[in-house]
Amino acid sequence: MNLLKLIKNNLFIQNFVASIVSLIPSYFEFSVGKYLAIKKAFYITAHDSTPGSYLEFGVFTGSSFNFAMKVNKKIEKLFGKMDCEFIGFDSFDGFGEINKEDENKSFQNHIFSVNKNKVLKNIQNCSKGQKLKIVEGFYKNTIENKTTKDFNIDKARVVLIDCDLKESARLALEFIKPSIQEGTIILFDDYVFFKGNKEKGEYGAFSDFQKKYPEISFRRIFDYGYGSRAFIAHKIK
Ligand SMILES: C[S@@+](CC[C@H](N)C(=O)[O-])C[C@H]1O[C@@H](n2cnc3c(N)ncnc32)[C@H](O)[C@@H]1O
Repeated sequence: MNLLKLIKNNLFIQNFVASIVSLIPSYFEFSVGKYLAIKKAFYITAHDSTPGSYLEFGVFTGSSFNFAMKVNKKIEKLFGKMDCEFIGFDSFDGFGEINKEDENKSFQNHIFSVNKNKVLKNIQNCSKGQKLKIVEGFYKNTIENKTTKDFNIDKARVVLIDCDLKESARLALEFIKPSIQEGTIILFDDYVFFKGNKEKGEYGAFSDFQKKYPEISFRRIFDYGYGSRAFIAHKIK
């Protein structure tokens, strides 16, 4: 009996597999997807010798930021040292004032309020001597009308946009614009939320950015997690 026949005739196996998969917590899958995407981005940029910093918009508890520092060390063993600086941007207190079009029950300030000192201490412990900087505060106060040049950040190697709202993602994209080079990878962690509305969320912010700056061409390179997407800047005129 082949495997298909066995499964067709054995509903117990179907039920068993469904139970096992439903037991895996969504949050776990979501995080693993994000980790694997960061790992791929570090691998691809190391493979192609794309220099520069890792920029993360939306640090929260530091889980993805710490993973990026960890995985960079491993990838450097394969491809050699890259001198990557890790720079994170977060208020550690949510989004600040939320625009009408950004309102969403899952993105509320109180959800993202964390014990900043504990998070910062843990990030420091995880850095293992790598260069890092955390820019604390609401983006309106830290990055609006500023660019990477104001922070002496030269080139972006990998950027994680994980700040959920259209306005936050818009400010992040405008900020990083001068640092985008051929080979920069941008990961959008919340690409499909807001019911797939093309005007809203990170999707909306990135669409507007691409229309505003047609001189930068992006190529979609992979999808990951629960509706997240990765792009590479492949041509800058
Ligand atoms: C989904 S969480 C980030 C998760 C994190 N990357 C991880 O994997 O653990 C989103 C974070 O973005 C931050 N954020 C979003 N918009 C912001 C803004 N305008 N100013 C400051 N922080 C902001 C929130 O405070 C929150 O911590």
